[in-house]
Amino acid sequence: MVKHIVFAISGFLIVLQLGIFVYREETAEWKGYQATYYKKLAEVVGDPKLANSPIKVTQIWDKKLNRADRCTTCHAGIANPAFENEPQPYTTHPNFKDGGYISKHAFEKFGCTICHEGNGQAVTVAATHGVVKHLDRQPLSGAYVQTACTKCHYELYSRDVYWPEADILMKGRDLAYELGCGACHAIRQFGTNAALAPDISNMGSKTELAFTLVHDFSRIESDDHITRVWEFEHFLDPEKIVPGKPDAPDPKDRTSPTIMPNWGLTEDEATALTVFTLSLRDPDVEDIPAKYFPKIASHEGFLQYR
Ligand code: HEC
Ligand code: HEC
Ligand code: HEC
Ligand code: HEC
Repeated sequence: MVKHIVFAISGFLIVLQLGIFVYREETAEWKGYQATYYKKLAEVVGDPKLANSPIKVTQIWDKKLNRADRCTTCHAGIANPAFENEPQPYTTHPNFKDGGYISKHAFEKFGCTICHEGNGQAVTVAATHGVVKHLDRQPLSGAYVQTACTKCHYELYSRDVYWPEADILMKGRDLAYELGCGACHAIRQFGTNAALAPDISNMGSKTELAFTLVHDFSRIESDDHITRVWEFEHFLDPEKIVPGKPDAPDPKDRTSPTIMPNWGLTEDEATALTVFTLSLRDPDVEDIPAKYFPKIASHEGFLQYR
């Protein structure tokens, strides 16, 4: 009996110690970045006192949007034009300085995850970047951030519009028109309702869990089993990823390979089509408050569509 109690207590202590260790490591990470930021700020401004600014988790929260983004805890120089030549995570946001287009999306109102997705409340590098296991909205960076623009800029689906700020999305959109995806797939954003293939109008608003439950990753080369990777490899070779079961022993189990064509796309083209596909959003799921929509005439169609 005594042995059991000693065993239980020591087990508990080990778990507790481990917990404290993990907690310390994680807090140390963001504290280190923030302390360095203040040191740099003190130098830039020429005020040594700033180097001792209190260290704390910072958060952007907007009641209407209902997101709490803590990215600025480490990315503390994100809206400071003087930090343009500093390394990450201190750098000024690209296209922010001198009234660049990103500055039209005031961080104190928009936060970060409205464009970057991911877990806004986490404060470690591992939980906010790259591929994060079991996270329903994977962090977006590089070209993939462009999948978020159409949450608000609906006119980007019009072929008369070209925005260089969303160049990869524009390339994907044009390819999708040229290759005739709308002949098989319903794509509400293009006004097509074909039924030869799944409706892809809400593809970008699906959670990772919903996607992985109904997609076979066994032929995916990458170890990252997430939606954008499946889409990308599927565009490069649809039949490899969805070969069907033409040779199943029981005729009842036989299914044909996918009819989606293999266009021999380049990797850049497959990326552009993946960005396009994941830009197709369900407005009910995204639930962007009206005050976040640009007030321009070309958005009337979108507001109507909502
Ligand atoms: C613990 C500190 C920390 C937090 C919190 C943090 N970042 Fe970072 N971030 C970094 C560091 C360090 C780098 C550069 C090194 C790297 O890429 O890992 C970076 C790089 C980046 C990059 C460019 C590299 C890449 O992954 O593509 C993006 C984009 C980014 N962060 C976005 C975010 C967003 C959005 C959030 C909030 C959801 C966030 N970060 C939260 C520390 C942080
Ligand atoms: C309006 C959409 C939008 C918002 C809001 C936004 N970003 Fe970005 N961010 C982008 C885009 C687009 C890129 C990719 C730019 C590129 O690669 O040229 C990017 C790139 C970055 C990078 C990588 C920079 C580099 O040099 O590679 C970091 C870090 C970053 N964002 C952090 C943040 C943080 C932190 C916030 C919140 C304070 C934020 N972003 C809010 C759209 C946004
Ligand atoms: C949550 C909604 C939202 C998202 C997401 C968003 N924007 Fe915006 N964007 C706005 C609003 C609001 C304005 C301000 C427009 C105005 O002043 O009428 C704006 C302005 C702009 C402008 C300036 C052009 C103009 O008409 O004034 C550009 C360019 C732009 N956004 C590009 C992007 C890109 C590229 C992305 C994706 C990386 C993006 N936006 C994501 C809401 C959004
Ligand atoms: C000849 C008909 C056809 C054309 C044209 C076509 N597809 Fe498909 N597509 C399919 C079929 C059938 C499936 C379901 C089987 C599979 O996953 O391959 C599919 C699957 C998909 C999926 C996965 C959907 C899901 O929920 O699993 C995406 C995304 C997709 N197609 C995008 C596109 C895009 C973008 C284009 C244009 C570049 C396109 N397709 C052109 C027939 C087509």
